[in-house]
Amino acid sequence: MKTACFILAALLSTQAYAQKISASDIGGVVSGPTGPEAGVWVIAETGDLPTKYTKVVVADEKGRYLIPELPRANYSVWVRGYGLADSAKTQAAPGKRVNLNVAMAPSGKAAAELYPGMYWYSMLRIPAKSDFPGTGDKGNGISENIKSQEQWIDTVKNACQSCHALGSAGIRKVPEVFAKEGNSFQAWAKRTQSGQAMTNMATGLGYMGIDAALKNFADWTDRVAAGELPFAKPERPKGVERNVVITMWDWSTPKAYLHDSIATDKDQPTVNANGKIYGATEESTDMVPVLDPKTHTASQIKHPYRDAETPSSTSLPKGTSAYWGDEPIWDGHTSIFVPRWCSRSSAPTARSPRRR
Ligand code: HEC
Repeated sequence: MKTACFILAALLSTQAYAQKISASDIGGVVSGPTGPEAGVWVIAETGDLPTKYTKVVVADEKGRYLIPELPRANYSVWVRGYGLADSAKTQAAPGKRVNLNVAMAPSGKAAAELYPGMYWYSMLRIPAKSDFPGTGDKGNGISENIKSQEQWIDTVKNACQSCHALGSAGIRKVPEVFAKEGNSFQAWAKRTQSGQAMTNMATGLGYMGIDAALKNFADWTDRVAAGELPFAKPERPKGVERNVVITMWDWSTPKAYLHDSIATDKDQPTVNANGKIYGATEESTDMVPVLDPKTHTASQIKHPYRDAETPSSTSLPKGTSAYWGDEPIWDGHTSIFVPRWCSRSSAPTARSPRRR
């Protein structure tokens, strides 16, 4: 009887305390002011590899974390979690136990800076049901196109949120270059002309009724600037959400964007296991980015176009950008979008406009 109890106690203590850290892992415990911090992200990042490389895991209910299978390099390891201030960065190499300390965020406002954009976006005031159908320029400014409150919400989602997270810091805060345009309505009129997607933004706003839409967006960012905070607080990851391991590589260039990428054939998802990943840069560049996740190297392949006269996206109408000034950063003659795997040639094919 005694022996049996002893074995049980030994098993429990192994499960509770022993954390095996192999030569390629970094692990340890995250502690806050009142003890272990559960459900927080532990982030290891390095600039030692050919591409910038980041791996993220989530701490368990006892604050324990394990970042597995790290390529040999020196890492900055740090913690981010809802309700906390970002921790200091600790330098560590794989094979090491690293215990990390974090402090609470100094204020509710500081904590909210880390909330997903959606929490800020939800502060946008949705016009009342009685404002629909819109009565146009001579009425409430909402376009007569918009017949119901649901259609208004659907338009904001599809005509704006589909390209960028409206609640992200870059959108909910008005950059100085536009703030000095005058009032917030004027600032918004300029903001929505910035960069080479200005026609898309103008189309969406026009469809909603431009003045009423800009007034609504300006009221939202005015309230954010005045210190209003999201109504809800996000919860930390729970249960299986704590099992994720996210690996990120920095590839392509700061001036291009990725619409999507492909790693395999959706009908045969074992094709190209551990092989290269190909990106789709839509209008932004003809250079298809390629990532080798085994060697952490990035390269590019030039997407051909048949007609030498094909116009570049540099010719798209554009306004001044807070980040790029008047430089047209997109230079694509192709529209590289949703590549598909062509199993017979074992290489991906892009759905460029001519092949659609
Ligand atoms: C086709 C994609 C696309 C759509 C659709 C779109 N945007 Fe944009 N938006 C962009 C891009 C790209 C930028 C970045 C411009 C730059 O600075 O280079 C941007 C920037 C912005 C900015 C930030 C400007 C700043 O202050 O730096 C705001 C605000 C904005 N968009 C609002 C909207 C709204 C509101 C809608 C819906 C009516 C919308 N956008 C629809 C692509 C889009």
